[in-house]
Amino acid sequence: MTGGRFPDRFLWGTATAAHQVEGGNHANDWWAWEQVPGHIKNNDRSDPACQHYERYISDFDLLRSLHQNAHRLSLEWSRIEPAPGKFSSTALAHYRDVLQALGDRGMEPFVTLHHFTNPTWIANAGGWDAPGTAEYFARFAERVTDALGDLARYWITINEPTVIAYQGYVRGEWPPGRRDLGAAVRVLATLLRGHWLAYERIKRRRPELQVGLAHHLRVFDPARWFAPQDRVVAAAFGRVFNETILRSLRQGRLVFPLTRAGKRSGPRHSQDFIGVNYYTRELVKFNHRYGAELFGERMLPAEARRSDLKWELYPDGLYRTLLSLRRERRPIFITENGIADAQDTMRPEFLLTHVGAMLRAIESGAPVRGYFHWTCFDNFEWAEGYSAKFGLIACDPLTQERRPRPSARLYAQICLTNQVPASVEPPPAPPRSVEPAGPADLR
Ligand code: FCB
Repeated sequence: MTGGRFPDRFLWGTATAAHQVEGGNHANDWWAWEQVPGHIKNNDRSDPACQHYERYISDFDLLRSLHQNAHRLSLEWSRIEPAPGKFSSTALAHYRDVLQALGDRGMEPFVTLHHFTNPTWIANAGGWDAPGTAEYFARFAERVTDALGDLARYWITINEPTVIAYQGYVRGEWPPGRRDLGAAVRVLATLLRGHWLAYERIKRRRPELQVGLAHHLRVFDPARWFAPQDRVVAAAFGRVFNETILRSLRQGRLVFPLTRAGKRSGPRHSQDFIGVNYYTRELVKFNHRYGAELFGERMLPAEARRSDLKWELYPDGLYRTLLSLRRERRPIFITENGIADAQDTMRPEFLLTHVGAMLRAIESGAPVRGYFHWTCFDNFEWAEGYSAKFGLIACDPLTQERRPRPSARLYAQICLTNQVPASVEPPPAPPRSVEPAGPADLR
């Protein structure tokens, strides 16, 4: 691969979520979940995380010094609306300062309104399994964009609806810890309704804002390419996890299997851009014992390169995903892409091959306009606590010391030159055999 250039004004940044970096978020459902022993690895808690709530100025200085010209962050709903209808002017003023600080440094903000956490009062009222939550969320979105819309052009309503439904209501490993397929379908339908309502309200008041959603997209391939039943279940996985939300948003109505939650509709084409969170692929093998998971047992290729979380490094999946998104006819931003790699031994290769795959997709006509690496600082990685290290920059929650890893410098070079550095090793040949990976965690 030779060093190709990205389009002019390409956005290069990193992504975070409030609860994973801020510290001190005690009024949401995740904090309550963290208090129960066994829910989080090593019983870690999200306070102090990276103390980013206090340290954002020096953090942004550091990221800017690494030539990033954009930054994705989320606003913590429980800080802004700690009780129903009571909006905190202190919290809104804080986030004004945060967005202003990005603007002052020439960094384009991408603001997420919902990144997994719910205020305690929302959780107590039934969370996303209560239809009224869509309306509460839309009111929040409206108030926030009224207050902050002059400081950011790009807004992401909800991060990864399928992951919320799957982790919280199928696997039961995230709050509220339920295992109930019917609830998962209802939750997805309500999340979509929340997006539709928020999209309409924001656009009515500020049509100039660009509003989208961050999709978790994964590649599902048949474990045995010659086995028709594997091909069928792999296609079903792709359809349910990747396609359902995209199609519903395109058509402005719930599509199967969400129709089981009733008939609801919203505006057609309610995404001004497509946000893509891409991490890995999974191989799927038909297994009749996996009825609750579409009869698909997920596996890893035996010889695959794997992250600390055992996710396969599969850059070609980003290329394939981006090509398939051309049909949406919307600008695309990679809103997350990264790797858990405490030793930073694989991250340089991960960066080069994924950024390379993105460039190939652009050359094949995918309208990609920016890339946000997940993430800048090691942070509170949900059920994995502090054990999973996704940061370009190491961050010790005890000392709060920030230490850029070698790949932070490599990424800085990419950001500065707007180019994939030349002489990237070709990715290893795809493996031939598979082996069970154990229950995969569908994030
Ligand atoms: C994504 C989440 C993000 C982080 C990464 C590793 O699914 O959006 O918060 O957990 O995975």
